[in-house]
Amino acid sequence: MSLVVDPAEAAAVAVSSVGAAPESEAVAWRHRHLLDVDRLSGAELELVMRTTDAMREVLARPIAKVPTLRGRQVTILFYEASTRTRVSFEVAAKNLSADVVNIAAASSSVSKGESLVDTVRTVEALGAQLLVMRHSVSGAPYLAAEVFGGSVLNGGDGWHAHPTQALLDLYTIRERLGGESQAARSRAGATTEGLLAGRKIVILGDLLHSRVARSNIWTLTASGADLWLCGPPTLLRGFEAWASRSSVAGRRFQVTTSVDEALRDADVVMALRIQRERMAEGLLPSLREYAARYGLTRERLALARPGALVMHPGPMNEGVEIAPDVAAGVQSVITDQVTNGVAVRMAVLYLLAGTQVPA
Ligand code: NCD
Repeated sequence: MSLVVDPAEAAAVAVSSVGAAPESEAVAWRHRHLLDVDRLSGAELELVMRTTDAMREVLARPIAKVPTLRGRQVTILFYEASTRTRVSFEVAAKNLSADVVNIAAASSSVSKGESLVDTVRTVEALGAQLLVMRHSVSGAPYLAAEVFGGSVLNGGDGWHAHPTQALLDLYTIRERLGGESQAARSRAGATTEGLLAGRKIVILGDLLHSRVARSNIWTLTASGADLWLCGPPTLLRGFEAWASRSSVAGRRFQVTTSVDEALRDADVVMALRIQRERMAEGLLPSLREYAARYGLTRERLALARPGALVMHPGPMNEGVEIAPDVAAGVQSVITDQVTNGVAVRMAVLYLLAGTQVPA
C-alpha cells in the first residue's frame, strides 16, 4: 500500500490546520526507507520541501508538538560521532510525539563485538519501527534495511550518502533564494526546480570524503541548478568521470580546480570540512596550504554575486576551509541549515511513517 498525498496536504493531514496547496498535483510517496536521495524524483523532492514548509509552521507555534507519531518508536543508532544530525533527528521525532530511543554504539554491545545485523534485530525486538542510523562504512544502512522490518533512515554512511543533509540544504537554498515569500510561492505552485534553474551553486573543498556532496549532487542537479564542484585535484578524484556520465543522463555539473572560476558569479557557495579523520597521507601538502589556496575567505567570496549564500554542513574547521568572518558574516546561512534540519527530518519521518510498501 502506498500513501497518496498532495504535495502540501501531506503535511496538513499530519499536522492539521496547516495551510496546503489546493491545486498541487497528487504525488505518491513510495519509499519505505530513506537511504539516499538518488531515487527521489523531482516531484518527490517537491513533496519533501512542501511537507517541510508545513513542519516549519508547526515549529512556529507556541507548543511545537503534534501527535503524528504517537505510539511509534524511533531508534537512533549512531556508530559515528555527531552533534547536529543526531540531536536534530531526536528533536524532530519528539516534536512528532514519537518514543525516542538513543543508542551510542560505543556504549552498546557493539563494543563487545555484536554484528550490525544482530544489533538491528535486537533493536527491532525492542520495539523500533523507524531506525535512524549513521555508520562509518558506506552501505551499512542498506544492509540494515535488508533485515529490519520497519523503515531505515540513513543519517550518513561512510563517504557515500547523507540524504537528510542534502534535503535540508535544498530547503535552505530554496527558502533563501525564494525570499520571505517562498511559502506563498509554494502555494501558488512555484517549484524548487523553477527556483534553482540556472542558479550557480558551488561545492568547495574535500569532495572526495564527502557524503554530503555526493547526496547534494543528486538533489541539486535534479533541481536544475548550475552545479560546480571545486577543490584540489587529489580531492576531486572520480568526480570528472561521474560528471561525464551524468551529463549523458541530463544531470549536468562541472568540476574544476580553479577557485576563481568556480566562485565567479556564484549564487551559493557551500564549503566542506577537510575530513582529517578520513584523510590518507599525501592527499594534501598541509592544512595551511589548503587554507591559502582553497579556503573560503572574504576576498574570494567577493567574486561571487553580491549577497551570495554561504553554507557549510558543519562541523567547521574555521580558518581552514572557511574563514571565521565568512562563517559568521551576513551572507552565512549556516545556522539556518541547522534549524531547517529539524523541520526536514520531521517531514521525512512523517512521510516514511505513512508508507508500508515493501521496498
Ligand atoms: C557532515 C557529516 O557528518 O557527514 N556533518 C553533518 O552531518 N552535519 C559533514 C562532516 O562531517 O564534515
